[in-house]
Amino acid sequence: MATTTTTTTTQSSVCRYSAPPLLVLFSLTILFFLNPVTGSTPWPHNKINTTDLIFGSSKKYEGSSDFVHLNYHMGPVLTSNITIHLIWYGTWQKSQKRIIRGFLNSISAVDSKHPSVSGWWKTVQLYTDQTGANISKHVHIGEEKNDRFYSHGKSLTRLSIQSVIKSAVTVRTRPLPINPKSGLYLLLTSDDVHVEDFCGQVCGFHYFTFPSIVGYTLPYAWVGNSAKQCPGFCAYPFAVPGYIPGLKPVKSPNGDVGVDGMISVIGHEIAELATNPLVNAWYAGHDPSFPTEIADLCEGIYGTGGGGSYTGQMMEDHVGATYNMNGMRRRFLVQWVWNPLVSYCSGPNALDQ
Ligand SMILES: *[C@@H]1O[C@H](CO)[C@@H](O)[C@H](O)[C@H]1NC(C)=O
Ligand SMILES: *[C@@H]1O[C@H](CO)[C@@H](O)[C@H](O)[C@H]1NC(C)=O
Ligand SMILES: *[C@@H]1O[C@H](CO)[C@@H](O)[C@H](O)[C@H]1NC(C)=O
Repeated sequence: MATTTTTTTTQSSVCRYSAPPLLVLFSLTILFFLNPVTGSTPWPHNKINTTDLIFGSSKKYEGSSDFVHLNYHMGPVLTSNITIHLIWYGTWQKSQKRIIRGFLNSISAVDSKHPSVSGWWKTVQLYTDQTGANISKHVHIGEEKNDRFYSHGKSLTRLSIQSVIKSAVTVRTRPLPINPKSGLYLLLTSDDVHVEDFCGQVCGFHYFTFPSIVGYTLPYAWVGNSAKQCPGFCAYPFAVPGYIPGLKPVKSPNGDVGVDGMISVIGHEIAELATNPLVNAWYAGHDPSFPTEIADLCEGIYGTGGGGSYTGQMMEDHVGATYNMNGMRRRFLVQWVWNPLVSYCSGPNALDQ
């Protein structure tokens, strides 16, 4: 069994297993072919179509499609109370943590103003398992861990992310609890941390940990703060890509472009973790190595009319900040998710609700 040091990298941690070569090859195959596809961006289909943005054209309407066949593949979903364990990697301000906790705490809040974050989660609750049990409506934050001295450095790979989680659940003082059935592990990296494929392809992804690395199979997600690296990509529409003339960013609802941009990506990942925690439950497509999940289908859609490169109708608060749902004390902009009953994307701010 590999021991983790503070400088573990992808290669060295793989090489240190005393597993037969075939097994190593097999897990590498899983990592490189399965892992990358569960990533998310605020853009539909991971691509910015410049023509589309400039002319505001929209080919898809709220993601509605006769061609989407979202199927249940018999694996578990999160039907009991969901506990989110946060791992704050790197340097985080108290004010930034408050915004993210405020969003997570709003998922199950009962008294937020309509349209609300809890109204958004109601679409996720529509998904069931084999027994007909729905995704839990109770989501709360559990124990948290600060990794403020960058235990695995300022440049993480998909594999070393699992080592960060391993450290958090095995550290001697106050380790995070092991909760494979209803725990989600959310690793958040600060704006000075590089992560494999961050910005180039994804803004966040989810998967589960490998027993060979972590000792357990734990559903986890990673989301990075893009503020210094690629806000125009991962914090859109609060920042816009510099190469598109005339496109203006909108004002973010909590005064932090990077963190406000993370909220939608966090929502995306949590919705998918709840409905597809082991990547064998709810997804579309025939190839399990390239699943299209409930939030992938609605990337970039925040309101009625959204699709193509149009975000859909959003709202503005009294200081001109853009949002589409209310939390307990804050407002957020969060992408919609696929509604299995009507087969299109829906959200609490839909005009027909
Ligand atoms: C971008 O969108 C425009 C208009 O919808 C379309 O004609 C064009 O083919 C798209 N380009 C790409 C690369 O998808
Ligand atoms: C689930 O959470 C709700 C709300 O916090 C609580 O009332 C209930 O007792 C919890 N159920 C279990 C089994 O822990
Ligand atoms: C549970 O899921 C079913 C099927 O999607 C849906 O009809 C029902 O309204 C859901 N119940 C809750 C409480 O969301």
